[in-house]
Amino acid sequence: MAKLKVAVLTGGGDAPGLNAVIYALTRTCIKMGHEVIGYKFGYKGLYRNESVVLDKEATSGILHKGGTILYASNKDNLFDYAVEENGQQVKKDVSHVAIENMKKEGVDVLVVLGGDGTLTSARDFARRGVNVIGIPKTIDNDLMSTEQTFGFDSAVNIVTENLGRLHTTTESHHRVMVVEVMGRSAGWIALQSGIAGSADVILIPEIPYSIDKVVEKIKERDQRGKFFTIIVVTEGAKEKGGEAVVGKYVKDSPDPIRYGGIAAKIADELEKRVTSEVRSCALGHIQRGGDTSAFDRVLSVRYGVAAAELIEAGKFGNMVCLKDNKMSYISLENVIGTTRQVDPQGELVKVARNLGIEFGD
Ligand code: F6P
Repeated sequence: MAKLKVAVLTGGGDAPGLNAVIYALTRTCIKMGHEVIGYKFGYKGLYRNESVVLDKEATSGILHKGGTILYASNKDNLFDYAVEENGQQVKKDVSHVAIENMKKEGVDVLVVLGGDGTLTSARDFARRGVNVIGIPKTIDNDLMSTEQTFGFDSAVNIVTENLGRLHTTTESHHRVMVVEVMGRSAGWIALQSGIAGSADVILIPEIPYSIDKVVEKIKERDQRGKFFTIIVVTEGAKEKGGEAVVGKYVKDSPDPIRYGGIAAKIADELEKRVTSEVRSCALGHIQRGGDTSAFDRVLSVRYGVAAAELIEAGKFGNMVCLKDNKMSYISLENVIGTTRQVDPQGELVKVARNLGIEFGD
């Protein structure tokens, strides 16, 4: 096959494993005789034509590291991009600038690592004739079209480790600890880390909770001489008949809602109802930081190599995915806007219930 120039970018929130994908994609493409560059700050770099050469030297020693050597942005949708015109900020489709930049650079293929928003733009670039390959990314593990995204296992490990730490201090003080974890409207991180970290209560968006049930659980534990309770709650969880707690609106982001504050809200409500002292703790971006777990390193390099193989096969307009634990691919036309949530009747929820974990329903 002729030598190709492959460009890669990382969009959306970062996730452990991005660097491992970049590593594997670069190394495999070089082995195949292709050249690789990386656009910086996601689509913003594509718009500004800011790129770096990715070779063996540039990717040396990055496989295990979290974050992304290319940096990321979750604000820059080039199909609806904020630009200044006559001293005013207006939103415009500037995708043609990005396409021109790729032509000038001689880029043959664009590899996009991202979640739903970033992949929507990838699909739209494919519709405009760009040779695009998508690679799914999110710690939330909520993309329907792949069995597991990289970053999720690392996040679950981080939360599980922190639940262990919170356990010892919570037990020492006979407190109730409400721990808020990421996941937006999907409870995967809370569910898996809650089971692994021996939580007593898991509250997830898919199962609206009643505070009465949580109070009952705390009292029942008190009666058994267990004078402490660990509650894990997904940031997007809702009380029955209630709404999710929004922490912040990021005005210039395509998806402006940032959840946050549910743990503090629950702690306030519980404090009025139970005798123990109640504290809350939001793990926040700690869940996305640090080194990538061993599982995610392996998963990520599989994604990276599979993307290079798709390039070699000329199968553009697709996203690499995991199907029956094998690397596969699916059209970018079929991956957008489909969120995979926890099945309230599913096996993992049943397992947790059998362990005595309360879901508040
Ligand atoms: O979608 C990934 C995610 O980490 C969510 O779990 C979280 O709600 C959100 O991104 C946080 O985004 P930001 O980095 O903008 O705070």
